[in-house]
Amino acid sequence: MTTTEIQALAERKDAFILAHYYQPMDIQRIAGAVGDSFELAKRATAAPQKTLIFCGVRFMAESAKLLSPDKTVVLPAADAGCPMADMVTPEDVRRLREKHPDAAVMAYVNTSAEVKAECDICCTSSSAEQVARSLREEEIIFLPDRNLGAYVAARAPEKRFILFEGHCPVHRRVAAADVRAAREARPGARVLVHPECLPEVVALADGVGSTSWILREVEQAPPGGQFVIGTEAGVVERLRETAPEQACFLLKAGFVCPNMKKTSLEDVARALNGKTPAVDLDGETMRRARVPLERMMRAGGQAALSQESVPDKSERPCVR
Ligand code: 13P
Ligand code: SF4
Repeated sequence: MTTTEIQALAERKDAFILAHYYQPMDIQRIAGAVGDSFELAKRATAAPQKTLIFCGVRFMAESAKLLSPDKTVVLPAADAGCPMADMVTPEDVRRLREKHPDAAVMAYVNTSAEVKAECDICCTSSSAEQVARSLREEEIIFLPDRNLGAYVAARAPEKRFILFEGHCPVHRRVAAADVRAAREARPGARVLVHPECLPEVVALADGVGSTSWILREVEQAPPGGQFVIGTEAGVVERLRETAPEQACFLLKAGFVCPNMKKTSLEDVARALNGKTPAVDLDGETMRRARVPLERMMRAGGQAALSQESVPDKSERPCVR
């Protein structure tokens, strides 16, 4: 099916297609909304259509379902998961709560609905700092991403963070040596990285932020800039279309999330034709898991996580 045929089918079926920036470009091109996790959660809620075709990974489609329980939400690549989200279980959260009864539990949206159901508030990479500051508790259990947690902890020193030892295997592959090599190969280029990268990578970057923050930084820079991008390859591919006047390079070859690349146009067509099961969560999980997500939507506002330099907080306590 061509792009135009898929878009026409979506209109006939009263469906809205959303795609994360890490999706393949042919998927980004057919989508009615492309964004980072936070923007997509907002667009999913605001969409008037009855069906949402969520081109991303499972936790994103689940979040859309939690925020729009009356809509049918379909993940076209039904087996697209997030290994980071799989690193934490509801039992882990319950155990941590017992150990730290005064702490608030803040969950990155990269978690299952069952884990969210045990948490107090969610955040995305672009809303994390604002969300942490919105909490009245001084102590925060942050899960599952230790790197994002360490980054937010450095930005909100008035809070005490207990960091869970999860990570994104895709972002963790990048080392400080890769940043040094990129700087040597492209002197004068700005290095922009996602906060899921290791603290030593973050410390060497010129700027840190969510995928949409990185896109904005490049798109709004004076033409003729050079940028080394430290996040998933889809962002660089997008920038080649949206900011052709800038020279953008991927920080490390093979910086690709295999789960995000699972979606094909055929999968989207199948989902639109009702051939893919919709996201289905049990009533009790729905009821409990939407509370921290809705709290995030209220606290997150228009946050855009970014920085110029940040101290290394790798000595912070860590749990598993
Ligand atoms: P964003 O919150 O920047 O969209 O990132 C989501 C993600 O999965 C990054 O690996
Ligand atoms: Fe999960 Fe990492 Fe892929 Fe994002 S890039 S979906 S955190 S595995």
